[in-house]
Amino acid sequence: MDKILVKGGRPLKGTIPVRGSKNSTLPLMAAALLAEEPCVLRNVPCLHDVFTMDKILSSMGATIEFTGRYMTLDASTLDSQVAPYDLVRKMRASFFVLGPLLARLGQARVSLPGGCAIGSRPVDIHLKGLEALGADVNIEDGYVVATGRLKGTDFALDFPSVGATENLLMAAARAEGVTRLSNVAREPEIADLARFLNAMGAQISGAGTDLITVLGVDALGGAEHTVIADRIEAATFLVAGVATHGDVTVQQVNPEHLPAFLSKLRETGADIETEGTRIRARATNGFKGVDVSTQPFPGFPTDLQAQMMAMLCVANGVSVIKESVFENRFMQVAELARMGADIDLDGNTAIVRGVGALSGAPVMASDLRASAALVIAGLIAEKGETAIARVYHIDRGYERIEERLAAVGAHIERVSG
Ligand code: UD1
Repeated sequence: MDKILVKGGRPLKGTIPVRGSKNSTLPLMAAALLAEEPCVLRNVPCLHDVFTMDKILSSMGATIEFTGRYMTLDASTLDSQVAPYDLVRKMRASFFVLGPLLARLGQARVSLPGGCAIGSRPVDIHLKGLEALGADVNIEDGYVVATGRLKGTDFALDFPSVGATENLLMAAARAEGVTRLSNVAREPEIADLARFLNAMGAQISGAGTDLITVLGVDALGGAEHTVIADRIEAATFLVAGVATHGDVTVQQVNPEHLPAFLSKLRETGADIETEGTRIRARATNGFKGVDVSTQPFPGFPTDLQAQMMAMLCVANGVSVIKESVFENRFMQVAELARMGADIDLDGNTAIVRGVGALSGAPVMASDLRASAALVIAGLIAEKGETAIARVYHIDRGYERIEERLAAVGAHIERVSG
């Protein structure tokens, strides 16, 4: 299995182009199941999770071609309503096929998901929402079996779950009549999905606010769509820049997709400039500890909590980090401690006392964002080498991270075996 080796202590300097958003691409691919004509996605990132979704859709009879960043998806040939355990267990986002399959075929059999080991991550809101839309939902042998013709309804989500909002949006697009979804997620990926569905002929308004209204239509057609930039990837590179006292610019990203993150990074004392689709971050005079509490959008993203923690390990002063979205999302803490970090955990709160320096160590990636945090910690470490095992976690969400960091001055390489 591959490892990533990092020798730290060098400031990162330069510009990194940001790829298309993983968390947009996966539901967009699932949405293509709703159309009886081919769809095109541009700016698709080359990631393991994208290949997994490709396998799932292909296993149901869809035809997918992916070259460069250009993907065509033709679900006119859809011939199965089953998403098998072997594929779904690899990635929780596979569950996005449930809404589209049900809306298009009137039946779906989708394995209960696996994915990152971050808490129990139930799917109750997805299922309650589909039941409200008129589906008959049962759990049989580890599979969700849903049947029925969907009818518009009013449904309030218990929590603004991103995945449940997306599943219900896709299902409601082809339900009969009007659906009003309230307390929905407002993440930029939701608005991206709604734009694609509308281009396919759906009638959705309010995406990006907490109330979405969907006027169901009988059929959806083909559409072309460009995936938004990956705000989490962009922010990860900015944190790496600040953490190494460097000067990093990310480009092709929308700064409005990162409001709480950018203001928190500024609060550490980093110098942040935004101009059009570019964000530049510098920390010429060091940076200080800050308190972070993860929240649904527009709050501080849970997907950046681990990376921010890695940086705060060497901040001046103490930081209190509260994880409010997921339970059990502090897997990076034990590994950071092995690199010299001073972190106390109390339930969903971590107290990080800034230390003078981290030192390299062999560490183990445990989930996607925790792995990115370990890469950042390796870049910070002033002595020794950090060897990160289980790199496949990183490859789920970052395209060739080592090449892109090396291009801005990092001593980082991937080795096999
Ligand atoms: C998506 C993102 C993930 C991100 C997360 C929160 C994708 C592919 N993944 O995951 O990167 O970390 O949003 O921003 O877009 N919950 C329930 N019942 C449900 C659904 C969710 O209790 O039916 C809970 C979860 O356990 C979790 C919280 O709600 O505690 C947020 O989950 P959710 O927003 O659904 O995250 P995902 O869509 O899985």
